[in-house]
Formats: sequence, structure tokens, C-alpha cells
Amino acid sequence: MNLAIVGATGVVGREVIKCLELRNFPITNLYLAASAKSVGKIIKTIWGEIKVREISSKLFEQSDIAFFTAGSEISKLFAPLAKINNCLVIDNSSLFRYDPLVPLVIPEINGAEAFNHSGLIANPNCTTAIAALPLWVLEKNFGIKKIIMSTYQAVSGAGQAGLDELEQQVIEYANHQELVVSKFSHQILFNVIPHIDSFQSNGYTKEEMKVVWETQKIFKRPDLAISCTAVRLPIKRAHSESVVVQTKSKVSPEKFKKLLSQSVGVELVDDVALGQYPTPMTAMNKFSVEIGRIRQSLIFGEYGLEFFISGDQLLRGAALNAVEIAELFIN
Ligand SMILES: NC(=O)c1ccc[n+]([C@@H]2O[C@H](COP(=O)([O-])OP(=O)(O)OC[C@H]3O[C@@H](n4cnc5c(N)ncnc54)[C@H](OP(=O)(O)O)[C@@H]3O)[C@@H](O)[C@H]2O)c1
Repeated sequence: MNLAIVGATGVVGREVIKCLELRNFPITNLYLAASAKSVGKIIKTIWGEIKVREISSKLFEQSDIAFFTAGSEISKLFAPLAKINNCLVIDNSSLFRYDPLVPLVIPEINGAEAFNHSGLIANPNCTTAIAALPLWVLEKNFGIKKIIMSTYQAVSGAGQAGLDELEQQVIEYANHQELVVSKFSHQILFNVIPHIDSFQSNGYTKEEMKVVWETQKIFKRPDLAISCTAVRLPIKRAHSESVVVQTKSKVSPEKFKKLLSQSVGVELVDDVALGQYPTPMTAMNKFSVEIGRIRQSLIFGEYGLEFFISGDQLLRGAALNAVEIAELFIN
């Protein structure tokens, strides 16, 4: 296949390259594009050294599939150009996710929907994608009534600039300098910030509402009661989430653990006696989401569970999901 990555120099774009390499994706040509500042840069891949180019009609003419990892503005400008050049877009931005005509796909859950595309497939938000894998096990086997989620999100969720700001503040702190704040609304070093993306009229942030809208769409459960509080922490990579679930039928930690052990995309890390539970440090660079601290809910009793997950949002939550969608089209 001929593939293009639009936004290849960003944190998600670089992860897509890594993922294609790790999964031995059958590639004839790989084209990498980014902003004018990166044009001409050389990126080393297992398919050779590739020069970063600008986004153009020719890029899409030459490609069967383009991964868009450059934000909503670029998707808005260039996804139509890819479409008229018969290049399938797998979009990582939030721009098309809520369009009823665009499939929003997590291959482990609703992979078949990818084939209903009309030139464009949306990749979910990374926070949604990580939680959806274990939640789907509960939905399929017990039915879900309600979900209450709180997140602990890494700075790389805000792109390279977010990562740079945390690293810069560490250096400034060590040098007794004033900390410069630009990407986040407050100092992120030694802090937690309950504000990711813009505030909506209902008091939730857009990041929180993405979890609601997207889980309902992917699970085909517009009635699903779900609420989220999304919080940024000074962690470099991998998001964590504390999840409380009320189920329709009786559930137990033992039954859930057994089902998880037979599921793809999740790894049970749950032995508190040995100090084993999910953490961003251990979840980093893994294809699976770590899940642990599974317990019967004190609030919902036999009809509820609480658990903690950590997943690499750049890899599992974004790049791997996008590459898995592309893999559906290999044949
Ligand atoms: N970070 C995450 O955890 C995450 C997870 C899921 C989805 N996403 C989504 O993925 C997308 C990329 O996010 P990111 O975190 O990877 O951001 P990032 O690190 O800031 O990377 C942005 C990429 O877009 C390119 N770009 C920016 N302006 C451009 C322009 N005018 N023309 C062409 N290319 C341009 C950049 O190129 P230069 O390097 O040349 O500037 C870079 O390659 C966003 O839609 C984001 O919402 C991010």
C-alpha cells in the first residue's frame, strides 16, 4: 500500500510511523508531510530515509490511505482534497467524529463499521479509546447503566508543545528561574489542572464531552449515562482513568477478570499484595491498556465495579487504533 502521514513530525505522527514499523505494515511507499517549517527534514524509517514534504494534491494522488495527525484545521482544509483523489482518510482530529455519516471506529469493538465509509474514517479521542476497551467487555457481558470517570492525563496529550512546556518548566525550576506558562492555563509542574480543551455551556470541558459523545456513538448507546472529569497532570506520557460503572446485571471482580483475560487490547495488572496495579510508567509503549484495582463498587454493590486503567494515549489511544483501521483494508 501507499501511505501518507499528514503531521508526521508531531507526537502522534511519529508514533504512527513507529507503529507501522512494529506491525510490519505492507508498504510500497510511505510519504510524510508536515508544516512548512519541517519540509525537507529527513526522517529515518525501516523503509529508508524519507524527506518531509508539503501537503499537496499529488501527495493524495500517490497514496491509498492518509493518516491525518495535524489537528482539525488541517483536516478541514485537506481531507476534501484527499477524498477527491480517492485517498482514504483516517483522521485523528475531532472534526468529523460526531458526523453521523462518518464511522468512528475502534477495530476491537466496531471494526466492521469502517467499511461504511465514504472516504473518511474517524479515530476516537485517546481518552475515550483507552477506556472503551475494558468498558466494552462490561457492556457486552453485563450491560452498562452508568459510567462515572475521572482522568489523569499526560502533557503529551497536548502535543509536542505540551511535552516541551513540562520539560522546560523542570529546567526553569532547577535553575531557580521563573516558570513560563503558555500551552496550559496554569503552571503544570507540581500541579494538577482540571481543564482540558474549552469549557462548554454545561460546565463540562470539550475533552469531557468527547468521552460522552464518542462512547455513546461507538457503543451505539445514545441513552448511555456517562460523565467525566478530565484532569491534566505533570506526566510525560500515558493517560490514566478511574472508572465507576453501574451494570444492568450482576457483576463481580472475578467474572470481569476472567473475561478480561480472554480479551484483546487489555492487560490485567491487578495484584495489590505485590504492589501491582496500572501506572503510566508501566503502561508506556504498550499496545494494551493496563487495568487493575478492580473491586466491587461500594455504591452500586453487586451491580457495579470500580477500576483503574493506564494506557499509552499516543500509541494505544491514537496511533495503534489508526493503524489497526488501515489494516482492515490490507486485503
Ligand atoms: N497527543 C495526543 O495524545 C493525541 C491523541 C489522540 C489524538 N490526537 C490528535 O492528533 C492530532 C495531532 O496531535 P499531536 O498531539 O501529534 O500534535 P503535535 O505534536 O503538535 O503535532 C502536530 C503535527 O501537525 C503538523 N502541522 C501543524 N501545522 C501544520 C500545517 N499548517 N500544515 C501541515 N502540517 C502541520 C506539525 O508539523 P510541524 O512539526 O512541521 O509543525 C506536526 O507534524 C490532533 O488532531 C490531536 O487532537 C492527539
